[in-house]
Amino acid sequence: MGQLDTFFQQSIEEPEEFWAKAAEGIDWITKSDKILDGSNPPFYRWFAGGELNTCYNAVDRHVNAGRGEQTAIIYDSPVTDTIAKITYKELQERVARFAGGLKKQGVSKGDTVIIYMPMIPEAAVAMLACARLGAVHSVVFGGFAASELAIRIDHARPKVLVTASGAVEGKKIIAYKPLVDKAIEQSDHKPEKCIVFQRDMVHAEMQEERDLDWQELEAASEPADCVPVAATDPLYILYTSGTTGMPKGVMRDNGGHAVAIHWSMKAIYNIDAGDVFWSASDVGWVVGHSYIIYGPLLKGATTIIYEGKPIGTPDAGAFWRVISQHGVKALFTAPTAFRAIKKEDPNGTLLGQYDMSSFDALYLAGERLDPDTYHWASDLLSVPIIDHWWQTETGWAIVANCRGIEELKVKAGSPSRPVPGYDVRVLDNDGKELSAGEEGNIAIKLPLPPGTLATLWRNEERFISSYMSAFPGYYETSDGGYIDEDGYVFVMGRIDDVINIAGHRLSTGSMEEVIATHPDVAECAVIGTDDQLKGQLPLGLFVLKAGVERDVEEIRNELVKMVREEIGPIACLRVTSSVNRLPKTRSGKILRGTMRSIANGKEFRMPSTIDDPTSLDEIIDILQGIGYPKV
Ligand code: COA
Ligand code: AMP
Repeated sequence: MGQLDTFFQQSIEEPEEFWAKAAEGIDWITKSDKILDGSNPPFYRWFAGGELNTCYNAVDRHVNAGRGEQTAIIYDSPVTDTIAKITYKELQERVARFAGGLKKQGVSKGDTVIIYMPMIPEAAVAMLACARLGAVHSVVFGGFAASELAIRIDHARPKVLVTASGAVEGKKIIAYKPLVDKAIEQSDHKPEKCIVFQRDMVHAEMQEERDLDWQELEAASEPADCVPVAATDPLYILYTSGTTGMPKGVMRDNGGHAVAIHWSMKAIYNIDAGDVFWSASDVGWVVGHSYIIYGPLLKGATTIIYEGKPIGTPDAGAFWRVISQHGVKALFTAPTAFRAIKKEDPNGTLLGQYDMSSFDALYLAGERLDPDTYHWASDLLSVPIIDHWWQTETGWAIVANCRGIEELKVKAGSPSRPVPGYDVRVLDNDGKELSAGEEGNIAIKLPLPPGTLATLWRNEERFISSYMSAFPGYYETSDGGYIDEDGYVFVMGRIDDVINIAGHRLSTGSMEEVIATHPDVAECAVIGTDDQLKGQLPLGLFVLKAGVERDVEEIRNELVKMVREEIGPIACLRVTSSVNRLPKTRSGKILRGTMRSIANGKEFRMPSTIDDPTSLDEIIDILQGIGYPKV
């Protein structure tokens, strides 16, 4: 039996022993007296009775261990022509002082704070400062529009909102503050204070009573100490798209998160203290939480906060420049970034300009890694290309090639085998386990390992209905796929209405909710279609109300604009088409899955429950007329 098999078997058969050992990588104030409390399934609590502080583990302990002069964060911002290095000691001082500033505004253990920031070091400082106080942060991705921010404000009920005056997105300057003002205007809950980091390229107008200047606050505050919290206390809430317009607030605890994320840095990414690890994502996504901020810092590594794109800042050699300039050992990004580089520089000629000798492996996740992109990256870089599969809910990889334990042979199209801690099974719709090679619902036998979602914030019922009820005793991933005879998992895609656009997770249901509010639209459906660059793009199909005689092109433009304004530019709804009717079952359910198959050129069967088969013929004609399938 290989090393990985031994680890895996122990993690499933003796999870408490396995994770108690991993917990030795974390500094505890009080050790847990119950490694796994399974008394109230499906709510499992890891490290019950334990006390720690996540910020202490990510920052202070490295200073105390004599590594205060090591670089903790490299801020590399081609869009502002800046490179800055922050040592662990400097990070400790900044975080403690900003935590003091938050404390002065009344933020204490258990309070929530929303962070709406671009990719600047202050985003990390704000997150860590919350963790220092035992406050619960909720970071909202900057590409979401004001109304999406308002939904999150109303649900998370933050005492304070932390933001910056703006961001540089490629070549555009985006003012954040007007979006924040609009969101707070729209929300019922009003944060007491709004702390604004003013940036040189755009100045935010301040509201006298409510808004505070970050720089002034930080300068005038006394450093705050780390507050002990229970292992089971919340560290953060991260909203992610479900199938409706109301996002799900994934809640992560302190203890399980610290243990699992710290453990994964070596086991999966083969990273040790002092190594340079770069995750080219955004702090607003789970990858940013786990592998820009907490993972590398808990491990005592150096992390990079990159404010730029894979292309255009200034060219398709940007990633190679960062790797060579900072001695990056491993890069983690989404396949889309590599597809974008491949499109601009198909022969990878720009790579020749850089010394890549530090580079050890490329990790890709967030969407399916297509074999073309895998082979292109592998041929060009001559390092292992590691696909790994996970979700916002799990917080770290479910299936991965654990190079830090034992490197497995790669099979293109599969992220390889389950990571220790995850008992992955494939089930049919009745919950029966399927044999090797048979495709079905990918589920994970409970309990989930530490670091995965503890619950949904203020919504235990939805936690159960979304994840735990379809297959009692299992967590439902909502991804479909199969496991082959060697135990390799093949993930074929979502089986619900969640889509991945350029590695950004969005809900077609929430786009439908926006389109349905247009006064001329009777009903609509949004489906995910395959796209060569961004993996998937949403396509809207709508039926006009009887008697509407306006120009359809004008209505289409209005719908695209509405989705952009209500959800955000990242939704990328670009194509919509008007249809006479939508195909439905006799009970009135829109046949989205069938339309999706048609648009993506996949085989489909005429559903026996279809109300009117000719409605599908019309859709086939319309989709072909506008060039589907595209890939
Ligand atoms: N704040 C405000 N707007 C944002 C934003 C942010 N943080 N991030 C993206 N946007 C906007 C973009 O400016 C763009 O607006 P536009 O329609 O006015 O041009 C829109 O949202 C779509 O952005 P994006 O998906 O990034 O597309 P792009 O065409 O600008 O860039 C890629 C294409 C492939 C370069 C880009 O998608 C990319 O870098 N992908 C990597 C994926 C990734 O890191 N995913 C994170 C999960 S691991
Ligand atoms: P997110 O919560 O944004 O990380 O999105 C999670 C979803 O992205 C998963 O449910 C999958 O559908 C998809 N996904 C993530 N990583 C992979 C991967 N390596 N292969 C295939 N799909 C992936």
